[in-house]
This record gives sequence, C-alpha cells and structure tokens, in this order.
Amino acid sequence: MATPPRVFHDPALLRSEIRQAQADGKRVGLVPTMGALHPGHLSLVAESQKSCDLTVVTIFVNPTQFAPGEDFTKYPRTLDADLELLSEYDPVWVLVPEVDAMYPPGSTTEVKAPEIAEPLEGTFRPIHFDGVATIVLKLFQVAPADAAFFGQKDFQQVRVIQEMVRDLLVPIEIVRCPIVREADGLAMSSRNRYLSPEEREVALSISRSLNEAAQRIEAGDSNAEVLRDTIEQSLRSAGIGEIDYVSLACPRTLKPVETIEGDVVILVAAKVGTTRLIDNVLVSPPAS
Ligand code: PAF
Repeated sequence: MATPPRVFHDPALLRSEIRQAQADGKRVGLVPTMGALHPGHLSLVAESQKSCDLTVVTIFVNPTQFAPGEDFTKYPRTLDADLELLSEYDPVWVLVPEVDAMYPPGSTTEVKAPEIAEPLEGTFRPIHFDGVATIVLKLFQVAPADAAFFGQKDFQQVRVIQEMVRDLLVPIEIVRCPIVREADGLAMSSRNRYLSPEEREVALSISRSLNEAAQRIEAGDSNAEVLRDTIEQSLRSAGIGEIDYVSLACPRTLKPVETIEGDVVILVAAKVGTTRLIDNVLVSPPAS
C-alpha cells in the first residue's frame, strides 16, 4: 500500500529527527536529488532500502551548480509527482528546503571541489562541481546519514564526492549505483524530457556507440585513440554536431589512457539540439 512520505521543509528539524532515529538504532540512507524523479532516482532509493532502515531523499534544485545561461530556471520541478513516486518506498522522509535555508542570506563560504573536478565536465562547466560539492556537504550536515547513494551516470560527480568526503573527513559511506537505462538504451535523465522525438532518436547514438566500444574492448581492442575516434564518428554521423568530450579514462584518476590494460571508463558529453547529455560505461578488458 502506498504511504505518503514524511515531508520536511526545515533542515534543523530533519537533522534532529535523523539523530533520534540513529539513536534508536536505525541505519539511515541519503539520496540527494534535484527532483523530477525517474526510475534512475528510484533505483537509488531501492538500493538504500536494501541496507538502511530509513531513507531520506532531498529535493533541491541547487542554484550554485548552474552557470548563467544553463537550465536552472527551466529545470523541471515536479514535486507532487515526485512525492507520489516516493510513496511506494515507505519509510522515506523527504527534505524540500527553500534556497534561504540552504544558503542563509549573507553566506559566502563555499567548497572548492577537489582536483578530480578539473577535466571533462570541469572544462565545460567550470563552476559546476564547486556548487555540487558545496551543496552536497551542506546536505550531509543537515541529513547526517550513514550512507549516501549516487548514480553512476554522473561518474565524475561521484568521484568528486568520494574525494571531498575523504579530504574533509566526512563520516559517510558513498555508494555508487549502476546507470538505469530506457529499454532502447538511453541513460535515464531528468533532462531527457527536453528532447523532441527526432532528437531522442539522435541521442540513442550515445549509448549505442558506448556499447559498441565496450564490446570491442571486451573482445581485446586496446587502442584508446582508435576507439575514441570511432565513437566520435558514430555520434557525428547520427547528427550530433556538438561533442564536448569523448574520453577513455582511468576510473580512479579520470586521466585519459592510451592503451587499455585495465578497467577503463568511457565518458561522453554532447549536445543534442539544445540539450546537453552525458553518459558513460565502465569496461574491463579480457584477462591477459
Ligand atoms: O546529481 C544531482 O542531482 C545533483 O548534482 C545533486 C547531487 C543532487 C546536488 O545538487
């Protein structure tokens, strides 16, 4: 039976209730989101429920991670639908804070994201990860959970948060959960709803080309440059004009590799129409 989640607007109240739940012996999981929930987010809630007694979902479109000209104002806000989806996952608490509650007027302190934020997304969205690190640290303060669950689709974001937690001694376990895809392979994203039917077809070339490259690596191809060029060509011939990056990189350092000798992550960011999409795949070459 569906049970509406308990909704908090006051971060201080949420924190004291979480502390009480932990004092009562409950393990608490945290799923930070910007709302517009889809099955990818719900898979994080389901993963949290496997190991936690209570899951806290935060819904907050964080202004500081959007640069001027990005989609902050048009980012989908679908609170009623989000709460309805979460009502299938009892027990869930939801924090929906006002901007002033997360950024008290006059506040000037921010987190400088770790070095791992610099390549890839950092090249194209220079302020993005400082904003993400700042809000995620604040969310860890107001929702002092035992574990936090993030999706692999934002691979670099997970690495940024892992490094921040290590560097700033934040006592929370970071769990990376697999990408959830549509039946046709498109990685689920709140931004997919911006795509027209024609653009959606074009967007499929991203997961298709990642998949093909992964298969070639699994079959023994080890030349990263050739694979990179092949992915770029497939994207271009599908009609994608603006490719921010295609990178075959070490999953730990995110530095590009030349020869694939161990696990590799292939990351793509590209614009389909005006919608910027990211996707990635983690691949292991055959054992030598
Ligand atoms: O991945 C997201 O939705 C956001 O970057 C996050 C982690 C909720 C921070 O605003």
